[in-house]
Amino acid sequence: MQNDSPENRWFHLCMEDDLATPNAFVTTRVGAVPLVAQNIKGRVVAFRNVCTHRFAVIHGEPAGCGPLRCPYHGWSFDADGVPVGLPFNPTDFQLEAEGRRRLALHPASLARCGRLVFVRVATEGPSLEEELGSGTFARLAALSDAFPRRGDAAEPAHDWERIEAANLRLHLAPDGALVLHSAAPAGADSRFSRTVTLYPITADAELPA
Ligand code: FES
Repeated sequence: MQNDSPENRWFHLCMEDDLATPNAFVTTRVGAVPLVAQNIKGRVVAFRNVCTHRFAVIHGEPAGCGPLRCPYHGWSFDADGVPVGLPFNPTDFQLEAEGRRRLALHPASLARCGRLVFVRVATEGPSLEEELGSGTFARLAALSDAFPRRGDAAEPAHDWERIEAANLRLHLAPDGALVLHSAAPAGADSRFSRTVTLYPITADAELPA
């Protein structure tokens, strides 16, 4: 794997609240690698979205709510990626604890910047803050905290401030709206690009510079 490979880069995936409820998941694809971030009993974890049994894609939708369960033979996985529910295991698979651990899902990296959730295929490498730079990281974190409320879609105008980082493009309105567009990573189709419009809690809230 080359250092400049997309697999070594962080990509913005979603907002923290997209993964706030048990079984909530959001998926993407980086090159040929499908990824999933999922809330499993309150823990938010990221894996390659590929079953380790016969390599089926586990979640086919860009986002949703449902257990991390392979649609092919129905294996379900815990927050460590270990298959824990295997229908017909005694007759079809005969997997004991050690065999299940060997078939754990391949982990991916997940990091937060304020309320923004990022994922990376590689499990080793620079932190998200190192990749974005500490100034950009702090600005994004502050903005994401200051604009917690989703609302009606807004169309960025020419006098809005524009900030770019990783696959993110943010447009900040002078009067208090934040449009956040995440481009799909290279190799992913447009189903994996996402746009949200965020607003402060109140119209007179103090916003970060
Ligand atoms: S391919 Fe996933 S359970 Fe068999």
